[in-house]
Amino acid sequence: MSLYKELLKLSLEIIHSENLVEDKMQSICNLLDDKLDSYSWTGFYLADVDKRILNLGPYTGEATDHTTIPFGKGICGQAAETEKTFVVDDVTAESNYISCNINVKSEIVAPILKDGLLLGQIDIDSNTPAAFTEEDQILLENICIALAPYII
Ligand code: SME
Repeated sequence: MSLYKELLKLSLEIIHSENLVEDKMQSICNLLDDKLDSYSWTGFYLADVDKRILNLGPYTGEATDHTTIPFGKGICGQAAETEKTFVVDDVTAESNYISCNINVKSEIVAPILKDGLLLGQIDIDSNTPAAFTEEDQILLENICIALAPYII
């Protein structure tokens, strides 16, 4: 089985376990961070659609100052507005970017949606330029689809 297929299988086992949703999200961060060398920071933001902000959820990696991000700001905030996966190969070329760590070179954000409503997103930073391929996008989007029913 390919690494990405195996990671999806393991992620689905985590998601469909009896654990609390926060623990599921933390286990997925730990799994991806452990198995994918290019993943330097892996975390979830949860959406407050009334306040139009993203609140930091479980993550693996260095602590970030950006525990709250307004919709529209940075890569995360832009993905919140479009409700679409946003891949940035070179963060220095993105003017609307919030830097969490000067070593980061590329980033991917995939939304978690339920009935067209944004519940949150998964956000990965990489210290490698253009680290994220279609395989990453498909894995992360499938994780978000599977997680959505468990998020209140
Ligand atoms: N770089 C993100 C901010 C979140 S950190 O990567 C953890 C952005 O531009 O929205």
